[in-house]
Amino acid sequence: MVERETWATRTGFILAAVGSAVGLGNIWRFPFQASEQGGAAFLVVYLLLILAIGFPVMLVEFTVGRRTKRNPIGALKELGTGVWTKVGWIFVVAGFVIMSYYSAVSGWVLQYMVLGLQNDYAVDAAGGQFLATASGLDSVLTHAIFMAAVVVIVAFGIQRGIEMSVKVMVPAIILLLVGLAVYAATLEGATEAYQFYLSPDLSTIAENWTEILPAAAAQAFFTLSLGMGVMITYASYLGEDRNLAEDGAIILGFDTAIAFIVGLIAFPVLQAASIPPGDPGPGAIFISLSAAFGELPFGGIIGAVFFGTVAIAALSSAISITEVVVSYLIDEHGVDRVPATVGLGVAMFAVGLPVAYGASGDLSELIIFDGLANGILLVLGGLLLSIYVGWVGSDFALDELGKGITNIGSWGLTWLWLVRIPVIVILLVVLALNVQGYYQDLTALFAG
Ligand code: PHE
Repeated sequence: MVERETWATRTGFILAAVGSAVGLGNIWRFPFQASEQGGAAFLVVYLLLILAIGFPVMLVEFTVGRRTKRNPIGALKELGTGVWTKVGWIFVVAGFVIMSYYSAVSGWVLQYMVLGLQNDYAVDAAGGQFLATASGLDSVLTHAIFMAAVVVIVAFGIQRGIEMSVKVMVPAIILLLVGLAVYAATLEGATEAYQFYLSPDLSTIAENWTEILPAAAAQAFFTLSLGMGVMITYASYLGEDRNLAEDGAIILGFDTAIAFIVGLIAFPVLQAASIPPGDPGPGAIFISLSAAFGELPFGGIIGAVFFGTVAIAALSSAISITEVVVSYLIDEHGVDRVPATVGLGVAMFAVGLPVAYGASGDLSELIIFDGLANGILLVLGGLLLSIYVGWVGSDFALDELGKGITNIGSWGLTWLWLVRIPVIVILLVVLALNVQGYYQDLTALFAG
């Protein structure tokens, strides 16, 4: 067996995890879910969930990964007995499905970058422009280009591929987004936009909690790359026993700050162009933001910078999703990294073709893939792993968390009890609501 690589530096690990966390989720979903669910009301629930379930579950994944030094399937085979040995499969299947459509959507982002460079954003016909972008051969081509970029990076391995690339990508994302936020602050109407984004209407939360809670929880999971084994896999390459809680807190802080900054860009841009955030849903970022960029002076070039940044963020996430599945093939089947990565890239490209080609013209392929993977598989994976670590394997997990933390005191037990009850209860409720929502979406799609 080949010697397992480790991260060259601690910063490398943190940047890779931040790169994974910051992606389409922060940009494509976040502002629009926020605007759908009453702006700041959503933000409050989201922040609470990040702390109450995101952070503990991230540590659950870290302890499993660092303890076993294996991919998610191998890790659970090593730790668990009986059915627990099978839980890792959910992660690998979720990763495979997510990557297939994530790449298709990232291809659309590339197309919007090019449209900006050509100063071609449609204003009145933005919806039609989006549907044209999101289907047909151009979409298949950009899906292929994006997937190829992912394959090249992952094929180079942990240190020379993932670590080197995130050292460039993550600082670039941060700089570009901060620059765009400064630009957005100069736009007319920025103050009103911030107000909508930042003043919570608590009655909205009380009235709509059955919608806000599952949406915010699924978002908290997706944005932190939880529930599909990325954090297990990345922690499995940790060579030394560092303080997992500290690293987790840094990762979480960056991810949240970046999602927040994106809102500071999106809402003023929309406001300045007098464009309503629009129907949320998969097309929102493309339709309403590109229309807004189409209205503003120099909007083409600024839009190109914005979508270019989104593309970099998507790439730094996509490599982590792919690495989960690649590490499984390497660890469990002894496949070499390069053929494993290339073969998987081709397979994921093929599975994503229906989303990229978009024959339906109404994004139903995307809704079917995303509802299943993001709404159900991620939450289910996170739930089962939390039950396992909280109730079955808690001894090893406490021991692992304690390594590298000099004065853990009662924090270890606090964490464990958070995982044992609140995390599990919330995830159960969210899973039930998401299954129900998915069922409704499917019936609506097939009835219509
Ligand atoms: N966190 C990424 C995002 O916000 C998506 C992702 C989900 C990446 C699951 C890895 C695993 O876009």
